[in-house]
Amino acid sequence: MANAQSRLVVISNRVAVPKARGVAGAQGGLAGALNAALKDRGGVWFGWSGQESEDRTGNMDLQRNDGVTTATIDLSPRDVGEYYNGYANSTLWPLFHYRIDLARFENRTGEGYERVNDRFAESVMPLIEEDDLVWVHDYHLIPLGERLRSRGVKNRIGFFLHTPWPPTRLLTSLPFHERLVRTMLSYDLIGFQTNEWLSSFVHYCETELGAEVNRETGRITHEGRQTIARAYPIGIDWEHFQAQGDTGEARNAGQRLLASTRHRTAMIGVDRLDYSKGLPERIDGIGRFFDEHPERTRDLVFIQIAPPSREDVQSYQHIRGLLEQKTGQINGARSEVDIVPIRYVNRGYSHAELYGFFRAAKIGLVTPLRDGMNLVAKEYVAAQDPDDPGVLVLSEFAGAAHQLGCDGEGAVLVNPHSPDALAGAIRKALDMPRDERKRRYDAMIGTVRDDDVRDWTQRYCTDLAAD
Ligand code: F6P
Repeated sequence: MANAQSRLVVISNRVAVPKARGVAGAQGGLAGALNAALKDRGGVWFGWSGQESEDRTGNMDLQRNDGVTTATIDLSPRDVGEYYNGYANSTLWPLFHYRIDLARFENRTGEGYERVNDRFAESVMPLIEEDDLVWVHDYHLIPLGERLRSRGVKNRIGFFLHTPWPPTRLLTSLPFHERLVRTMLSYDLIGFQTNEWLSSFVHYCETELGAEVNRETGRITHEGRQTIARAYPIGIDWEHFQAQGDTGEARNAGQRLLASTRHRTAMIGVDRLDYSKGLPERIDGIGRFFDEHPERTRDLVFIQIAPPSREDVQSYQHIRGLLEQKTGQINGARSEVDIVPIRYVNRGYSHAELYGFFRAAKIGLVTPLRDGMNLVAKEYVAAQDPDDPGVLVLSEFAGAAHQLGCDGEGAVLVNPHSPDALAGAIRKALDMPRDERKRRYDAMIGTVRDDDVRDWTQRYCTDLAAD
């Protein structure tokens, strides 16, 4: 019988294989969180190697490190085109982030998505033992549970969605939406980041599938099958992140930043270069701030770290061009021989370096247009000096706002679509007295520390193991 401490088999598209560790910003929050979850209890982590090859023999690369076995397979160029760049990142990703204008609907990529999910199921089957808990992650692998069930897997199987879940009227624009959602009901437990995404999912099940929902327990009954859907907000790896603060690497990074800003307040953003992160809108807000307060070009420097992501997808190429153009315009108009207001950096940094940058930066700007959770917001808070903390400016449309808004006492919440609202929030953060900064920090730090990734794993696995 499986229990909450049973061995875990984690399945996700992206796997943090040991040799690829270290660059935090580029891999997103998922890989870091799963790494922490597995390190504690041991287990197997299966997914795509990130490599392309025509080899269809199903060869698996197995590596053991810190009690975690990673098992990865290559995908063919066609699989990568149809499944990863296609259906996952050109259809589901934009749709789940409410960007139906960017979503492409092609039967061909939908077929590729199903084919790769089937291949994942076939490859991971031999790794699953009788009492394992199987935990599938994210929008790339929605049908995987159903594929495992159809091959006779009887284990408890859970699914966790790291992104938002869209409102029903948006989701119904996806051809075959019903087929996709029905496959989700093969899981024993479906986890979402916030109650907002959970409600949208439940609404879909009731109105489109005619399922019965018990809102108290989260139990969804449909065609004789039962599944449970609940919210489990993900947290950071608190212990690991705090330990970074004691490293020379973190101290050097912080000093480098401070030395280079020369008495100006550093404001920082760290995001994958993705249109959901609201980067051009953020730059517009900063432009508006400088338009309104030209004299403050000498007070503030903005550092945007944006490692490129999903570069073969057209909408990502477009966002990169747009960002370069907007940053260039503001720097062209506002720079002086000794001052450049925006530093735009296209690379990732280690966790230790990010800790150092976050602590040195007195404003953290986390303004996605839509985000499942956003762990950068939590890491920014975690890195602050409790006696002289910086201010977190956070989008009201990030999942993290549900926890860090703290009824107006935590992060400064902002509408990321409005340049005026962004400019106002920057001014407020820049001028905020230390007492208020401390009060806001105190309101947030408890949840960042206590609701960490270990707590998240434990809560999810306890519910998954329970019948
Ligand atoms: O958090 C969402 C997510 O898509 C993860 O699934 C993924 O690991 C991360 O962003 C980075 O994206 P990618 O794996 O496409 O580089």
